Amino acid sequence: MRNEGKIGVWLIGALGSIATTVIIGALALRKGLTGPTGMLTETPPFDGVSLTAVENLEFGGCDVRREDFIQAAWHLSRATGAIAPQLIDSLQEELSAVAPYIVMGTACNCGEAIGQLAGGNATGKEQSLRDEIAGARACIQRFKEEKELRDVVVVNLASTEPPLDLQEAHLDLSALNVALDRNDTAAACASTIYAYAAIEEGCPYINFTPSTGALFPAIVHLAEKNGVPVMGSDGKTGETLVKSALAPMFMCRNLDVLSWEGFNILGNMDGSVLNHPKNCESKIRTKDQVLAKILGYTPHSRVRIDYVPSLDDQKTAWDFIHFRGFLGAKMSLQFIWQGFDSILAAPLVLDLVRLADLSKRRGESGLMPHLASYFKAPLGVSEHRLYEQYEMLMDYVRQVKNR
Ligand SMILES: NC(=O)c1ccc[n+]([C@@H]2O[C@H](COP(=O)([O-])OP(=O)(O)OC[C@H]3O[C@@H](n4cnc5c(N)ncnc54)[C@H](O)[C@@H]3O)[C@@H](O)[C@H]2O)c1
Repeated sequence: MRNEGKIGVWLIGALGSIATTVIIGALALRKGLTGPTGMLTETPPFDGVSLTAVENLEFGGCDVRREDFIQAAWHLSRATGAIAPQLIDSLQEELSAVAPYIVMGTACNCGEAIGQLAGGNATGKEQSLRDEIAGARACIQRFKEEKELRDVVVVNLASTEPPLDLQEAHLDLSALNVALDRNDTAAACASTIYAYAAIEEGCPYINFTPSTGALFPAIVHLAEKNGVPVMGSDGKTGETLVKSALAPMFMCRNLDVLSWEGFNILGNMDGSVLNHPKNCESKIRTKDQVLAKILGYTPHSRVRIDYVPSLDDQKTAWDFIHFRGFLGAKMSLQFIWQGFDSILAAPLVLDLVRLADLSKRRGESGLMPHLASYFKAPLGVSEHRLYEQYEMLMDYVRQVKNR
């Protein structure tokens, strides 16, 4: 298994908070200006695994807004305070080299909230679905050729789309192809176009968002057929991460969880898009399934997400857990999680890129269940307990080393 040369990272939603943080973080690592805290692939269990070095990652991508990339980096630094302005200053040259590789994307079937963000810039209505796919493929090809890359990994970091209601065309690859040929626009949205294009280009594809249009069964079949690894959905970075570590504790003590109420407030653009009920529905679906899967029963549970503009990238989650113990006594546990969403997400994205590239070099295709711990709704995996998911990854790493 050879690991030669540079690989590309094609970020969908390239001007957003996570994508910008991923790029700043990787460039800072390359220059020795920061350390890899938060990246699991830089911990001892991965010693001896042939992962592509962060220094060998090249970045590009697409967005539906026309913002200047350097301005996006400055905005992130000023608005959140999470990234030191000196860091942006010292990366001016490297950030400027990435900017020309951020191109216009599609807002096809993305709903009203994303349509407003795009403000008429993106493609989406005037082109056929097949043309959109061809356009997305051409962007990846150009990036790969101009940067002389061995391979490209595509990561969806775009705003959450409203849920796509699954029909026949989403369950079966030939039915999907017929729907695309007929330009049946109800069958696909932007995330579908990006996923289809990536897989046809042979690029591993990661869906870090809850958007259901990205990796439905017909798209996973396409990946299996083309020998391409894919995985999603919805990065597990905050409240759900804590939930998946904490819920097993109640099982281990045979305590009955009666209610688990979660209230999230955040203020960045992600929060403003999730303020639209349809987009929020996709997020709540992925957050909602964790408890029942871990506990084996469904306690009373509600997840709320509210938009509080002044918080910007800083997310606060307050969870109230009501539980019953011996002799029927009722007790409670509460926790407050406060974090910078993008700071938590970016190292996971870098890990996922390196692990998806490794899978492709190992000849794996279709879903990558060993990456379950990175996702709120890991596709093809019923295990939701964090430590068991971590062990799945460690088992995989041991297998890789033994081969
Ligand atoms: N931050 C976290 O901890 C976290 C965790 C899990 C999932 N996510 C998901 O990751 C995604 C990105 O989060 P973020 O905080 O960077 O959001 P963001 O709003 O800062 O960035 C999203 C970017 O995507 C762009 N975009 C929207 N539709 C697009 C399209 N069709 N094509 C190309 N670009 C498009 C927007 O213009 C924006 O620049 C969201 O879907 C979010 O729900 C975030």
